Amino acid sequence: MNLEKRSLEMQDFFNEKADGYDEVHLPFMDSKKMICDSLDNSVERILDLGAGTGLELVPIFEKYPNVHVTAIDITEKMLNLLKERDFGDKVDIICGDFFKVDFGDNYDAVISSAALHHFVGNDKLNLYKKVYDSLKKGGLFLNCDCHAIDDEDEEKRLREFIETPDLMRHMDTPVTVEHEIEFLINAGFSEAYVKGDTGKYQLVIGKK
Ligand SMILES: C[S@@+](CC[C@H](N)C(=O)[O-])C[C@H]1O[C@@H](n2cnc3c(N)ncnc32)[C@H](O)[C@@H]1O
Repeated sequence: MNLEKRSLEMQDFFNEKADGYDEVHLPFMDSKKMICDSLDNSVERILDLGAGTGLELVPIFEKYPNVHVTAIDITEKMLNLLKERDFGDKVDIICGDFFKVDFGDNYDAVISSAALHHFVGNDKLNLYKKVYDSLKKGGLFLNCDCHAIDDEDEEKRLREFIETPDLMRHMDTPVTVEHEIEFLINAGFSEAYVKGDTGKYQLVIGKK
C-alpha cells in the first residue's frame, strides 16, 4: 500500500465531505461515547488520532472539562470545524499525517474513532508501536473502529482495493478484531481486548 498516496486521498475525501460530516455521523455517537465511558477518572492527557470535527471529544469534554487533548488530523477543513466547538480552544491541534507527526509522550490515553480502518500490515503495526511509545505505563489505547467480519471478508476487501485502487478512493480495508488484537500485542501492549460493540463499530483496547 502506498501510504503517502493513501493519506493524501483521505485528505481530499474529507476536505470534500467536511461540511456535511457531523450530520451523517451524529447517529453513531453511541459508538464514539464508548471511548469516553472507558476512560479512567484520573485521565489528564489524551492524544486523538484522526480527530476530524471532534465528535468523540464532545462527551469527553462534558465529563472531563479540564482534560488536555492533542488532536491530530490530516484534513484542515475537518479541524476547522473542531476549532469552532465550544471546547475548540482547549485542544492542541496538529494538522498532519499521523504516520509522520511526532506524538510526544506521557499520555494517559490515546484515542481514535473511525480513522484507522484504511491501514493494514506493517503500516498499522508501526503506528501502534508509535502509540505504545507515546503512552504512560498503564496507559490505554482506545480504538473505536469498524472491522472485517472474518478473515475471508478482510482478504476480499483488501484484494478489491489492491486490484481496483482508483475505483473508490475511500474504499475501506478493515481487519478483523482478532487481527487488531494481534497488532496491539505485537506492538508491545501487555493486554488487548474488545470492550464494546455497537454492531457497526467495535471498541478495541490496548493496555501498556
Ligand atoms: C471518518 S473520520 C473520523 C473523524 C472523527 N474521529 C469521528 O469519529 O467522527 C476519519 C478522519 O481521519 C483522518 N485521517 C485519515 N488518515 C489520516 C492520516 N494519515 N493522518 C491524520 N489523519 C488522518 C481524516 O482526515 C478524517 O478526519
